[in-house]
Amino acid sequence: MEGLRDEYPALQRTIRGQPLIYFDSAATALKPRAVIHAITSFLSSSGASVHRAVHQLGVEASEAYEGARDIIASFLGADVDEVVYVRNTTEGINLVARSLKPSSSVLITGMEHHSNVLPWRKLHRPTVVPVLPDGTVDEQQILAEIRKGHDLVAICQVSNVLGVLNPVERIVEAAHAAGSKVLVDGAQGAPHLEVDVHALGCDYYAMSGHKLGGPTGIGVLYAKREHLQEMQPLLWGGDMVSAVHIEGEQLQEPPLRFEAGTPAVEAAIGLGAACEFLEDVGRDRILEHDRALASHARKGLAALERVVVHGPADSSRSAGTVAFTIDGIGSNMVAKVLSDRINACVRSGWLCAQPLHEALELEPTVRASFYLYNTEDEVDRMLSVLEDLIATA
Ligand SMILES: Cc1ncc(COP(=O)(O)O)c(C=O)c1O
Repeated sequence: MEGLRDEYPALQRTIRGQPLIYFDSAATALKPRAVIHAITSFLSSSGASVHRAVHQLGVEASEAYEGARDIIASFLGADVDEVVYVRNTTEGINLVARSLKPSSSVLITGMEHHSNVLPWRKLHRPTVVPVLPDGTVDEQQILAEIRKGHDLVAICQVSNVLGVLNPVERIVEAAHAAGSKVLVDGAQGAPHLEVDVHALGCDYYAMSGHKLGGPTGIGVLYAKREHLQEMQPLLWGGDMVSAVHIEGEQLQEPPLRFEAGTPAVEAAIGLGAACEFLEDVGRDRILEHDRALASHARKGLAALERVVVHGPADSSRSAGTVAFTIDGIGSNMVAKVLSDRINACVRSGWLCAQPLHEALELEPTVRASFYLYNTEDEVDRMLSVLEDLIATA
């Protein structure tokens, strides 16, 4: 997007004298200056821990840490006491999975990331709504399954392979009508979409900071206040308690009771800065930009011989991610050639969604995922390398 590339120092580097082309934002996004600055200024001015110390540095750290929670709550349309810091989406989902009664009935789809499959499979009884050949789920089929009644529906807002957008508003409505709760896996949604968890009405929303330009090691689980009161912490230890006796303890109120131990203070501050940065840019603009690039890439890829582009053809049903295969050339080879020739970073393999690949009978795929700093020219350079590779391989 115009003027924004300069905000990302990683894009200023060159490798073998050539610029970097970063098409792996669905794995983790590049970090803007605002995030780097927020973290380094906190670490260079104090780096103290939060909540317990009454000295100046401790007070400042607590204010910055809790201030970031305020920003993140507003970014998600949540109240601040409904925002639990976790390490990432995976931990947020596991926290909910541990809180449900064992062997609860959980409805998921065939497009979920492993992190939204395994916690349910290991602790509960998941039912899987299959994907259609284009990688979407049939809305009538999932709504009919929801009406049968499950304890929880756990679904990604945006799939990490094909970028498919799920109709989460209608899913939440149907699930609540059937007495089920809903967890939205927002790992790929929060970086691209305007999120308002209160308007959406979901019970839980999990996201990772690093996928929207924040640091690794920090994410958020949003949960409705009444659910947080009933949930069990994953970890026990300091800071989550207001009193501990030889026998018995008094837990802090949520969200602190879910944040045992010294937290990732600078990471939380960095995540707050990332959310503020995206708010300033405007997520509607980001989605429009990422979609336009994905649509351009789809068209260009589809015109190449031996390339099969996967996922729905209609770009309004997906966000900024394109997955493809090239007949006769393995996905790792494609990714390596792109890296070696033009420093383009794309992802290859099962993309932590092997069940989706198996359902669609796909070989490991190549995924190019776009974000606000990518350009059409970068996409064209990728297409030209692929064309050359196909012609010579
Ligand atoms: C849809 C989806 N869910 C969950 C995750 C897990 O995220 P994390 O590894 O940050 O916990 C990812 C990561 O790629 C994802 O794309």
